[in-house]
Amino acid sequence: MDPQGHRVASVRFQPAGQPTGRPHVIVLGNEKGGSGKSTTAMHLVVALLQDGYEVGSIDCDARQGSFTRYVENRKATAAELLVPLPQSQHVPVQRSAADSAAEAGADEAQRLGAAMEALKHCDFIVIDTPGSDTSLSRLAHTHADTLITPLNDSFLDLDLLGRIDHDGARILKPSVYSEMVWEQRKLRAIRRGPPIDWIVMRNRLSSLDAKNKRDIGKLLEQLSRRLGFRLAPGFTERVIFRELFPRGLTLLDLSRKEHKVDLGVTWRMSHVAARQEVRDLVGALALAPRPSGAPKEVLSLAP
Ligand SMILES: Nc1ncnc2c1ncn2[C@@H]1O[C@H](COP(=O)(O)OP(=O)(O)OP(=O)(O)O)[C@@H](O)[C@H]1O
Ligand SMILES: [Mg+2]
Repeated sequence: MDPQGHRVASVRFQPAGQPTGRPHVIVLGNEKGGSGKSTTAMHLVVALLQDGYEVGSIDCDARQGSFTRYVENRKATAAELLVPLPQSQHVPVQRSAADSAAEAGADEAQRLGAAMEALKHCDFIVIDTPGSDTSLSRLAHTHADTLITPLNDSFLDLDLLGRIDHDGARILKPSVYSEMVWEQRKLRAIRRGPPIDWIVMRNRLSSLDAKNKRDIGKLLEQLSRRLGFRLAPGFTERVIFRELFPRGLTLLDLSRKEHKVDLGVTWRMSHVAARQEVRDLVGALALAPRPSGAPKEVLSLAP
């Protein structure tokens, strides 16, 4: 079905990470601000690094620069504490300041193209995008082999994917972001690129509000069939996510071994469950092993 509910030729998802001879591109996208794109991007980067992959990261929200600062904070922590935290090769891409839309579009295509070229030796490229509709964000979406949309667990955030009826029980029609993804999927099909594997993950899940959680879950299942996305396990609301950013750390860097090196984060048992949520998300992406052989060895603090 297309977003309007019309039947179209079925979309066949190519399993992620197939040996294509180029990096597998993972884009984090959602036009809603604060849904967890940058946080999820950084956790994915570290998960892939710890699995031994060479990872490139691109910040297409370089004006805000949260992803870039996360990466810089990580480098600073590694240097300051002399800990071997694995690092991605990071490239921020600025929006064009050109006056005309055509000029800006060409300029941004060139900038993003140059960033992709610089990282073409990587196994994976993780791209973070802004929480608004920009031409650079649209462009980034056209590069996605895997598109991950983190979604805060609320009706308000769900509204960016699909318009919901007054009772909050039924999806009426797709919303702006879903339409945009549909457009990018069509563009890729025209260019004969492999289809985008679109994955929606719920973020900041409450451990208390069971009814809200169930209602949103049902609506997301309706939407996933209509729009052709997969649902992946999400992250629970946890203070630790906010504590990790200044040090550039992720849940995957924390372990009991942390006590050997004081990373400045107090180890709690709840971190085990939190880290498992990250691993479950990575598992749901179904990324295949490195095509050219066994993963390279990297230094990591995680067990
Ligand atoms: N599961 C979570 N539990 C608690 N806090 C979270 C969680 N996920 C993200 N956050 C926090 O929510 C805030 C927004 O997250 P983040 O910056 O990753 O969102 P974003 O989608 O990249 O936002 P923007 O659209 O502004 O770029 C941050 O303070 C982050 O630490
Ligand atoms: Mg962000």
